[in-house]
Amino acid sequence: MTKSATRTIQRQDNRFLHPWEDIKSLGENKRTVISNADGIYIEDSDGNRLLDAPAGMWCVNIGHRREEMAQAIYDQVMELTYVSPWSLTSTPAATLAEKLAQLSPGDLNHVFYTTGGSTAVDSALRFVMFRNNVLGMEEKKHIISRTNAYHGSTYLAASASGKSSDKNYLDFEDETFHHIPDPNMLDKPAEMSDADYCSLRAQQLEDKINEIGEDRVAAFIAEPILASGGVILAPEGYHAACLAVCRKYDVVYISDEVVTAFGRLGHFFASEDVFGIVPDIITCAKGITSGYIPLGAFLVSDRLLDSISAEDPSIVFSNGFTYSGHPVACVAALKNIEIMEREGILEHARDIAPYFQEQLQTLTDIPIVSNVRGIGLMACVECDINPGNSDSLADNYAIGNRIDKHCQELGLLVRPINSMCVMSPPLIITREQIDEMVSMLRKGIEMAMQEHIRDNNQALGKVGTFQG
Ligand SMILES: Cc1ncc(COP(=O)(O)O)c(C=O)c1O
Repeated sequence: MTKSATRTIQRQDNRFLHPWEDIKSLGENKRTVISNADGIYIEDSDGNRLLDAPAGMWCVNIGHRREEMAQAIYDQVMELTYVSPWSLTSTPAATLAEKLAQLSPGDLNHVFYTTGGSTAVDSALRFVMFRNNVLGMEEKKHIISRTNAYHGSTYLAASASGKSSDKNYLDFEDETFHHIPDPNMLDKPAEMSDADYCSLRAQQLEDKINEIGEDRVAAFIAEPILASGGVILAPEGYHAACLAVCRKYDVVYISDEVVTAFGRLGHFFASEDVFGIVPDIITCAKGITSGYIPLGAFLVSDRLLDSISAEDPSIVFSNGFTYSGHPVACVAALKNIEIMEREGILEHARDIAPYFQEQLQTLTDIPIVSNVRGIGLMACVECDINPGNSDSLADNYAIGNRIDKHCQELGLLVRPINSMCVMSPPLIITREQIDEMVSMLRKGIEMAMQEHIRDNNQALGKVGTFQG
């Protein structure tokens, strides 16, 4: 694309209110225009190739530009573009429902299709409230989530989210949504064992249920790994301990697998295969189609469904979307799953994950890298320009922007969350590509650090070295 064509797109793009739009820069934004992609790489309109370390937005799991995906989508459009899901169905929607029921754990045998992750969470929460109304438990409506959780941008999903930085100037359902501390291992007191920390966090769930009243708590919602919160890892046994608490008080456990499902942790679903739990509901999206077409879903247990039909078999769950079970989206999901199975992509993800984690760990020798953590093919390289100083929030935000800029110049897309570089590449990444990714990230962080030192010293009028 010519420079002037790029400038035209950037100008027109200022009419596009992007997610988390910075209103004050409206009209002045010059976002990078991505014009094409292949495998784990994307290319901007100037022809610069970038390794797509976030896999789009944790979603392009099988990699970009799969011809057979394009063909499957094309064929479906030519055969049947759309059918109303209210009274009719299509082969892709029905076949995918059967396939998801097979892949999901335990008795999660039914699927409710949505248009993405937020609508999956929203519909799951509405389903839980609907069920409690049907069962005559009208008071049992409160939802417990965790700090730093991200569950989406519809009203209920956003109310369940717990990142304080996302709460500015927006309204939420405050009265019935509650947040307990997330199980971040970095918050564990040094003298406390992992097991005690696990018990503490699970106890906080139980305490919260008792504080609200067990007859008033409907559901606990939790990502297996808090993803957008910064790849927050829980102590071993945490999920099982929380599930046990939920069972004790008849609280529905919703596992939000929008990020972790479809291979990110080396399995179709992580709840049981990685964390040993069978929740009542699993929400998913993103990797279900590897981002080729929007689709979300929640899977629900027979136990919950049966309890409704036992009460009143004629009850209608009046919730759904024009695009529920969209045939083109469902065909993309089926092809995505077929590719993952045929190419052994989950096995590959499990096989390569230790190398991915080990190589990222080598970055801890950079003075501003304060922590590297992760599991499967998701990791976070956290930077802190002034460790131990809580006033360094703005500096850390600035360092994140600098890392972003330098990495992009070097050929790596990072898009840090504040100063956290979240790495979640397409699952097809090879060892050589991991080396390439880590080497560019190292250079990018080092350049950002040097630039920060130089600018600080200039501001202070002195020569010095990093004080971290
Ligand atoms: C765990 C989790 N749940 C829900 C969502 C919302 O999904 P979507 O953006 O597809 O609506 C996200 C998005 O990042 C997520 O990470």
